[in-house]
Amino acid sequence: MEIEFREGISEVIATTRNDRPNAAPMGIINRGFLYALIYKDSHTFLNVKKNNEMVANFVLDPLLYVKTAFDDVDPSLFRSDEDAPVLTAAYAWVEFACTIQERSTQKTALVKLHPTRSVILQRPISPVNRAFYAVLEATIHATRYKTLKDPKYLECMPHYESIIRKCGGKPELEAFHVLKEYLA
Ligand SMILES: Cc1cc2nc3c(=O)[nH]c(=O)nc-3n(C[C@H](O)[C@H](O)[C@H](O)COP(=O)(O)O)c2cc1C
Repeated sequence: MEIEFREGISEVIATTRNDRPNAAPMGIINRGFLYALIYKDSHTFLNVKKNNEMVANFVLDPLLYVKTAFDDVDPSLFRSDEDAPVLTAAYAWVEFACTIQERSTQKTALVKLHPTRSVILQRPISPVNRAFYAVLEATIHATRYKTLKDPKYLECMPHYESIIRKCGGKPELEAFHVLKEYLA
């Protein structure tokens, strides 16, 4: 396979499908083998359970991480020329066959990921920008806040906002603005 997942956790937008395609940010974990820890109450997990299929979309648009974390996305955001659920925004993607290891006492299932196809459409030059990662961090904390209602997950928001204002551009500022609307 041409696309390698670095050791640790790589953040992607995972797409799956049922009657309609679904998208949500997920971490692809490489600890000698590839897997994801997926909340059992998510659409992503229900779809994986049904189809044993998931696509990891490599995306650089911060707004898409925010929107897919909180909302159902429009089917028009998916490629119509692929039989897998692939986002048009993806510059590369990997399709996986999945095997689920249910951990009955846990809220997440361990889903082993077996790559079946990988496609590179572009190789964007994307220098590291702290604001992009600040949006991702803020979005993770926001999803935890929404689920667990613990205000500790909002404590870092001013810090992320200051990084976004200092290091970001319009895409990151807009993504953070939309994130705050989801939290309101
Ligand atoms: C950067 C990022 C990484 C995330 N990684 C995971 C993950 O590895 N597993 C998980 O279950 N949820 C993860 N989430 C949270 C889900 O994206 C979120 O719960 C989402 O609402 C699930 O959507 P769904 O119900 O459509 O599957 C992550 C969120 C963000 C912003």
